[in-house]
Amino acid sequence: MSIDFEQLMNRAKEASKTSYSPFSRFAVGAAVLTSSGKIFEGCNVENSSFGLTICAERCAIFKAISEGERVIRAVAIYSPNADSCYPCGACRQVMYEFQGDDEEISVVTENMGNLDVNKLSYFLPCGFRI
Ligand code: THU
Repeated sequence: MSIDFEQLMNRAKEASKTSYSPFSRFAVGAAVLTSSGKIFEGCNVENSSFGLTICAERCAIFKAISEGERVIRAVAIYSPNADSCYPCGACRQVMYEFQGDDEEISVVTENMGNLDVNKLSYFLPCGFRI
């Protein structure tokens, strides 16, 4: 089934509004579309102990997985504080874990106001799986 990338990006934008980022002042929102058709939102959540910070993408993915989802079809990422916001390396590998056998994950970002849609393999050519 086709994916409404605009809708997913709008959900990522909405999610960025609840970002807890007092240290970096860099808010991020993410929205994850799963194989069941549900959308899960997440934001970055920082901590005084900086290394404990979680990215918006992983927040949204873990919400989906903890609700019983197992296959991700698409992830949208947005920051109101930058012209573009591409997923970090750690989040790329976490996305890869939940890619289905039949479809690559679409990664949706905005670049200077335009939607930029790519397959996960563009960002992570040789993901790790056991
Ligand atoms: N961040 C994300 O939420 N996603 C990314 O893909 C990159 C970085 C967050 C983590 C931290 O709260 C802030 O952006 C600055 O690094």
